[in-house]
Amino acid sequence: MNNNHDGRMTREGIRIHSDADFEGMRKAGALAATILDEVAEHVFVGQTTEALDDFIRNRVEDAGATSATIGYKGYQHASCISVNHVVCHGIPGDKKLKDGDILNIDVTVIVDGWFGDTSRMYVAGKLSRKAERLIQVTHDALFKGIDAAKPGNTFGDIGHAIQSYVEANRMSVVRDFCGHGLGRVFHAPPNVLHYGRAGTGPRLEEGMFFTIEPMVNLGRPETKVLADDWTAVTRDKSLSAQFEHSIGITADGCEVFTPSPAGRFHPTYDV
Ligand code: MF3
Ligand code: CO
Ligand code: CO
Repeated sequence: MNNNHDGRMTREGIRIHSDADFEGMRKAGALAATILDEVAEHVFVGQTTEALDDFIRNRVEDAGATSATIGYKGYQHASCISVNHVVCHGIPGDKKLKDGDILNIDVTVIVDGWFGDTSRMYVAGKLSRKAERLIQVTHDALFKGIDAAKPGNTFGDIGHAIQSYVEANRMSVVRDFCGHGLGRVFHAPPNVLHYGRAGTGPRLEEGMFFTIEPMVNLGRPETKVLADDWTAVTRDKSLSAQFEHSIGITADGCEVFTPSPAGRFHPTYDV
């Protein structure tokens, strides 16, 4: 790759990053993904999500990195942990995980000023057939989006790839939350929608950094935010799942900054 457009912004306010910037994102992404690998063994029936968050906070500190979420808009935790019908932004707490609970753990770290943001699904105890199917479809939907993330395509192509795959499996894509540009900032333009029409939206260019993080529900797509002002749940109480990678557009496709070093990103790794 030979990218000398350092510092350029597109008309839509999307930053075009340099080759050196990719290296920064690789390091930040690797730490976030390593922490998600390591937290897996702490997920079990009877465990609290607070204890999982304690592990994550300590692990970020030990690495000499910074949690992007502690202090973000008043948020107090090093992770979001979203159990069962919680769609996203679940707050770690003292409730114990029960047999068959599924959970998304979402970690964002800052390493040398670069943000690495990734999440994946875990299960406490035995995974039910319907939860397994939801998790599999959500995981594969993220990769449909990643496959569409290449120069010449548009952001609408990514959303369309995800939505059509999810709906072909008779599940629904959450509309109320989206992916985002990132880099030296947590949330930057554009909003990366997980639904939409092919060929619409900004065109993808080498050097763009953003997340893809589809939330998929077994029931209807509508969500509501609880009185704590963070926890988003499905309105119909149906199960919800999410996977998130941070990626950078390359000359001929994209680079995933947050692959699992242990090869544990895929939902069935320990099932
Ligand atoms: N990591 C989340 C994302 O994917 C954002 C969490 S913000 C928090 O964008 F404050 F809720 F932690
Ligand atoms: Co994100
Ligand atoms: Co995230």
